Amino acid sequence: MKIDAILTPAELPTLARRDLRETLCVVFDVLRATSTFVTALHNGAKAIIPVSEISEAVAIRGKQPDVLLAGERDGVKISAAQTGGTDFDLGNSPREFTPEKMRGGTIVSTTTNGTRALRACACAKSVLAGSFLNLAATAEFIKQLQPTEVLLVCAGTGDKRADEDVLGAGALCELLARGDARPTFSESAEIARQFYAQAKSDLAAAVRNSTNGRRLLAIPELRDDVAFCLQRDVFPLIAGMEADGAIRRQAA
Ligand code: MLT
Repeated sequence: MKIDAILTPAELPTLARRDLRETLCVVFDVLRATSTFVTALHNGAKAIIPVSEISEAVAIRGKQPDVLLAGERDGVKISAAQTGGTDFDLGNSPREFTPEKMRGGTIVSTTTNGTRALRACACAKSVLAGSFLNLAATAEFIKQLQPTEVLLVCAGTGDKRADEDVLGAGALCELLARGDARPTFSESAEIARQFYAQAKSDLAAAVRNSTNGRRLLAIPELRDDVAFCLQRDVFPLIAGMEADGAIRRQAA
């Protein structure tokens, strides 16, 4: 098993030119898209459809009125003024995706980086949404599947690298390195692994000092999202993006 990593969103366009037919991608948007999707599935959502643009989400609602619209721009819930009149039901805080609101529903989500990173992997053999919330379950799933190639995709923030995504990717590298699989790491995957090894004794401090951590901590109603997204292995499920583009719980 070869493990490679994309550490910045600037590299995402290269995926369109890359042969990913034998590759399992794991997308990390720790703060917050992939953490939110894992929470939504844990709390009973049937599926999450990630889309890149607000207009795509609104168009899906036009055809499927029962879907819930979710997402953010600049961290905050998308307003009717940004959509030409359609109100979004949810923002991108995992704490909003409660069992009462999920109830087997389908969510259409558009976020600044996370949903774009997931869409950029659409031609891969398989795509998983990774987070600290479901990290060990994701690692076990990959170890059992034994794909030839694993690509860790760090969604980033704007056009920049996001530390918390690289830390999530590095933590997954550490778990995959344990056991008999003996993976090989590319230079970028090794950078993620070492970054995590240096930060793991105080992961909360590393993430609090990251650009996204500071941004969310400065917004009173979103500050608790940072600690929420750093919980380890509280939702032991596999979140896989299927051929129709929807993310659903996968059988372990
Ligand atoms: C993103 O997709 O860029 C993030 O999840 C941003 C956020 O939740 O604030």
